[in-house]
Amino acid sequence: MTWISWEAYKNMGGEIEWNKEDSEGVIILAIETSCDETSAAVVYNGLHVLSNVVSSQIELHKKYGGVVPEIASRKHLELINPVISEALHQAGMDFSDLDAVAATYGPGLVGSLLVGLTAAKTLAHALNIPFIGVNHIVGHIYANFISNKDIEAPVLCLTVSGGHSDLLYFEELGSYRLLGSTRDDAAGEAFDKVARVLGLGYPGGPAIEKISREGNPAAIDFPRPFIDEDTYDFSFSGLKTAVLNYLNTQKQRQAEINVPDVAASFQQAVIDVLTSKVLKAVENYPVKSVILSGGVSANRALKEQLARRLEGEYQLPLYTPELEYCTDNAAMIGSAAYYKYLKGEFSPLTLAARANLKL
Ligand code: KG4
Ligand code: ZN
Repeated sequence: MTWISWEAYKNMGGEIEWNKEDSEGVIILAIETSCDETSAAVVYNGLHVLSNVVSSQIELHKKYGGVVPEIASRKHLELINPVISEALHQAGMDFSDLDAVAATYGPGLVGSLLVGLTAAKTLAHALNIPFIGVNHIVGHIYANFISNKDIEAPVLCLTVSGGHSDLLYFEELGSYRLLGSTRDDAAGEAFDKVARVLGLGYPGGPAIEKISREGNPAAIDFPRPFIDEDTYDFSFSGLKTAVLNYLNTQKQRQAEINVPDVAASFQQAVIDVLTSKVLKAVENYPVKSVILSGGVSANRALKEQLARRLEGEYQLPLYTPELEYCTDNAAMIGSAAYYKYLKGEFSPLTLAARANLKL
């Protein structure tokens, strides 16, 4: 186990000599509060989750049809200390066992991010150990490595969530190239907005997936934005508008609206766009594994279609995180933080929360 003196840490500036051999047995306390989940985890050597406590505020926000930022940050304040204590307790650890403290510093709701970030920085300062700020999107990607320890590079990663939709290419783990992103709404955001207009409540993704099982995905021919265009970018706002227009037209005609059919047809359009972009990248880059991450990766229909096409046409495995690591959780932050720890990439205690942090 490596110990860095506080002086060395403060003076670091990237000049500290870091010996990878010394970094065995690293225990990281990770904190995630970017949206409406208060989570803390203890992760050993990046891939072994000793505890992963997630306190969800979903019930609290449900009645408003979405996350209310002010309520979210107040709730995080109430929950952060008990959630951290519980994570340590479940892992059988004490503060003195920790080698570093990590937290998400963006993207997310700034008031929510600040709670976890401040807790982590305070602990790191008090315990005299390194603090590591983690990009939430990178955390989602590392959730895959917790669940699947045999992923081989080069890796293609589709990360689809409430706030982001990105296609990334990892020639080797640790360095990536961004191939494409959403130009407007993220995939999960489109699920949430469409669910709202269909009266299915929040969060929209699981509600749409559930009701879609009773509907016909070919019932309504919604647009597949950018599907044939020469870009890896996505766009989902037009699809959402197409669903709205369809509903308005049906209402004006006093025609019946079959909610399961609308949900299933919308979901199919999203899945077709995502699948086509992944297959296009697989055609153009050497890839050994494809991984899926972010909240939308919980969608079974998406996983099934992607896996079927990848395995059937390209003999490529599709890896997805276990359900527990698909949606927001601190274990994924602890995993991403470990790889930064190995490289000695620590963050200053002045690190600010960044609502719009990009990859
Ligand atoms: O990663 P996540 O928990 O939070 C963000 O970082 O945004 O993702 C939440 C998003 C929400 O938009 C939610 O509707 C969507 O993931 N989601 C799903 C499913 N489960 C969650 N979308 C489609 N199908 C699902 N089963
Ligand atoms: Zn997330």
